[in-house]
Amino acid sequence: MQTKLDAESAKPLYEQIKDYILDNIHAGVFAPDARIPSERALSEQFGVNRLTVKKAIDELTQAGHLYVQIGKGTYTRRAKFDQQLEQLTSFTTDMSRRGQRVSSVILRAEILPATVEEARILQVAPGANLVLLERLRLANRVPMAIEQTRFLASRCGGILEGHDFTRESLYQVLRDDYDIVLTHAEQSIEARLATRDESRLLQIEPNGAILHMTRLTYMLGDFPFEYALSAYCGMRYKFNAILRHL
Ligand code: GLP
Repeated sequence: MQTKLDAESAKPLYEQIKDYILDNIHAGVFAPDARIPSERALSEQFGVNRLTVKKAIDELTQAGHLYVQIGKGTYTRRAKFDQQLEQLTSFTTDMSRRGQRVSSVILRAEILPATVEEARILQVAPGANLVLLERLRLANRVPMAIEQTRFLASRCGGILEGHDFTRESLYQVLRDDYDIVLTHAEQSIEARLATRDESRLLQIEPNGAILHMTRLTYMLGDFPFEYALSAYCGMRYKFNAILRHL
């Protein structure tokens, strides 16, 4: 690993400092969410102007490798979760497979009449009862996403009273207690900025990046069952899909 800068190199000094920091992140010397040496320490270590170090750190911050905690220092970002897009899985399944401990904070849990738009999407009559469940989803206590899901109350009476969704999986409860077999989903993802509440709940910077996911999940018989809007934390997720040639 490079520990000295090469003043003769065609590569600018700040680029060499970026390489040094990235190499240390990849080698695990700078652990995830750990503070890296200060600008002053790095400028002394390499014998360069502090502005050169600042440029390197600024660029790595913008590229998402580092983040700044005001008054504390600069930290490395945890590697993103790779999320496959081909399978209809739940948050609990996705995270448990990675050995993460799943928990949720309930933000809303109530029965509401379907709006005209929700009724159109879920193919029910406007005013039909929908369960609205909004949760902050955490993996090993790190906030990952805010999920707001709506589904048909008539098919799962008493679900909010009978279950503790701070720790239970919705998809598992639907399957085990209500015999609801989810078969497939239509899903779209778009980029947007976090609202103030989302930034606070997800513990990200104001206006941080959100991957906004819309999912319409179907149950056996090809009936739309769940309409979910999820705000995934852009800096903690990377979505993957395998594309096959036509
Ligand atoms: C995913 C989906 C949501 C779904 C949720 C269920 O995250 N995007 O639409 O409601 O899983 O998760 P769980 O079964 O862990 O409660």
